[in-house]
Formats: sequence, C-alpha cells, structure tokens
Amino acid sequence: SGVAAAGSSLAGLRILISAGGTREPLDPVRFIGNRSSGKQGVALADAAIAEGARVTFVGAHLEVPPPRGAELHSVETAEELRVEMLALQGGADIIIMAAAVADYRPSEVAEGKIKKDVAGDVLTLELVKNADILAELSSQRADDQVIVGFAAETAATRDELLELGQAKIARKGCDYLVLNRVGWSEGFTTDHNTVVLLDRTGHIVIEAAGSKLSVAHSILSALAVPSRTHAH
Ligand code: CTP
Ligand code: CA
Repeated sequence: SGVAAAGSSLAGLRILISAGGTREPLDPVRFIGNRSSGKQGVALADAAIAEGARVTFVGAHLEVPPPRGAELHSVETAEELRVEMLALQGGADIIIMAAAVADYRPSEVAEGKIKKDVAGDVLTLELVKNADILAELSSQRADDQVIVGFAAETAATRDELLELGQAKIARKGCDYLVLNRVGWSEGFTTDHNTVVLLDRTGHIVIEAAGSKLSVAHSILSALAVPSRTHAH
C-alpha cells in the first residue's frame, strides 16, 4: 500500500456496475420499459475509473454514452441482466446495482406483432415477477465483497423516504443503499441528484447533492472497502 496517488483511492479495485433500465418484450416491436437514463450509473463508472478502479459496466438501454475506459456489457431484459451479473460477480470487489430492473415481465411474448383486430377493444396483459438480482447477489457474496443497491422512491416526506429505504435494505441484504426521491420530473433524466446513503443497519452514512458525477464521488468515498488501503 501507499502507492496510490491522490485521487486514486480505488486503485486496483474491481468494480462491477449495472445501469440503465431493462426492457421486457411484448412482441418483436414493443416492450415494457422505465424512465431510467443510466446517467447516475455512468457517472459512478466515470468516477470509479478516475479514482483508479477497474470497472466492468453492464448497461441496459442507456440514454447517455457508456463510460470510457470500462469493460462494457450490454443487456436488454431483467433476466439477461441477472445472468450477466451472476457470471461477473466473482471478479468484483464492489458491486453497484444502479440499474432500474423491471419488476415484472409479460408472461408471454407474442411471436408476431400484436394486432388490434385480433386483440379487440381491451387488451389485458399478464405480467409475472422477475427474480430479485440484488437480493440474489447479496445472498451469495464473498465475505469481503461490498454490494450497493439503489432505491428511487416516490415518498411524500423525508421520514417516509428513510422508512422505505430502511425496510428495503433489510429486505435486500446488501451493504449500502443509495436512496433518492423521484417524481414525474425529478431524478431520472436530470444532471443533478440528491441522495442519502444508508448502511445495512439503516443508518445514514452520508447525504450528497450536486451533479451526478460529484454525487458518484461522494458515494464511492463513503464506502468502507476492506481492500481500499491495500495494494493489489
Ligand atoms: N433490483 C434487482 N432486481 C430486481 C428489482 C430490483 O436487482 N428484480 C435492484 C435494483 O437494481 C436496485 C434495488 O434492487 O438496486 C432496489 O430496486 P427497487 O425497484 O427500489 O426495489 P424493489 O425490490 O423492486 O421494490 P419496489 O420496486 O416494489 O419498491
Ligand atoms: Ca422495483
């Protein structure tokens, strides 16, 4: 240790980051998606690379360019993301699940385009629950692997936001949860963010506000990473 230059506090660490939003197909031309842009996840990758980490980045439909200098993987669906994350888990010191994963997928994917004259005036979709990737990664991680989840909540108050976050981190079994409030206009496509970082006991580690890049650096600095002080 002692070889890391200033600004290279993550030197030698391997960080696996998922970002963006998954898309669940309905037929060959349609999908169910979400409003995640991938910006905060890309900012985390950029920040980690700037701090000297080796970043593996799994992107699901990004609306921004992928991070430069990362090993890039690209997925569409929640199940593809799950398979990719499980395959890459073993090589990571830190895993950050910034992706917005579809909670449900259509129970059937039509082989051809769904047609109005066949479906009629009311089309009912049946959705089935997707596996919880973060919970699965957390349940099978190595002792010194640090796992970070994200939660965007539409809470009415700060207290409600913290309560939702505390319940969620307990349910997921990860080490940290990056919590933020979203609404119809805030959170997704903007260049700034306001987050609260919770630890596994539900306590606030830090709060950060600013550009998504500065929030990313704040989050990374706050993680207690066993090997941060060692040279790899
Ligand atoms: N997540 C995941 N697999 C899923 C759903 C979510 O890995 N099938 C991850 C997300 O990437 C995020 C964290 O879990 O890091 C929290 O996602 P969130 O949608 O807030 O939690 P859910 O458990 O899906 O609960 P809900 O959407 O009902 O609030
Ligand atoms: Ca969800």
